[in-house]
Amino acid sequence: MAEKLQTVVTSDQAFYDNEPIGSPEEHAKWMQEIKFYFDRYAYRLNANLAGLNGHVAELGAGSCGLSVCLSRLENVKRVTSLDISSKRMARMIDVSASVLRGDQSKITPVACNFNGTLPFDDGELDAILFDAALHHTRSMWSTLAECNRVLSPGGVLIAQRESYLSPFRARRQITKLLNTPEIAAKVSENIYLLDQYKYYLSVSGFNVEFIGVERSYLKKLLSFANGFALFTDGVLFCKKII
Ligand SMILES: C[S@@+](CC[C@H](N)C(=O)[O-])C[C@H]1O[C@@H](n2cnc3c(N)ncnc32)[C@H](O)[C@@H]1O
Repeated sequence: MAEKLQTVVTSDQAFYDNEPIGSPEEHAKWMQEIKFYFDRYAYRLNANLAGLNGHVAELGAGSCGLSVCLSRLENVKRVTSLDISSKRMARMIDVSASVLRGDQSKITPVACNFNGTLPFDDGELDAILFDAALHHTRSMWSTLAECNRVLSPGGVLIAQRESYLSPFRARRQITKLLNTPEIAAKVSENIYLLDQYKYYLSVSGFNVEFIGVERSYLKKLLSFANGFALFTDGVLFCKKII
């Protein structure tokens, strides 16, 4: 009997295929926020890529804003932007590239569900980046194992703009999360403590560093407390342990 081919659209894909796009002004503001986080580690990342092949990937790329930032780095030769929704990438990549003035010729968007096998050979990538996307995985263990597999020795995994659970506000944060359109649409939404990210990443073979990012004047004054009890905002900058 001939096998019947079936295209399965997951609830995650359906949600992101149909999520409305904001106004051009909102998009520009959003791109500046992505760049604000990126600028905190861009120099280090570029230095880390010196002498390597410079093939990097963004997982959960969506607007491809972070991919565009990456395309501006001298030592990034090629960016593969993966997202479960190719429609979302197609709708936004041109606007993101024009707002952030990147080199779109370096970027290749690819439809891919990062809950499964990543479309790369062992050790093919020198860096993997997530912008507000890692927490969407349905299994932190399998996604991080795949990242480890496809990264070269000493390769870098970066997760920026994750939301972090606060030990003091957890109940309120979870209640808010459970009332989002994502939860109503059965999207994989999660929120973790910084310590949980550190645990998952270190067990998955990464050295983890947290780079604090403070966006308000008050938070800048309190930067010494970032990542502890008061607030957590920043970038996970992780190196694959060789
Ligand atoms: C909250 S958005 C993050 C913002 C995103 N970086 C952007 O600039 O649009 C989450 C992104 O992750 C993608 N995503 C969610 N689950 C995914 C999965 N299992 N595989 C690949 N991409 C996924 C969504 O399609 C969406 O673009």
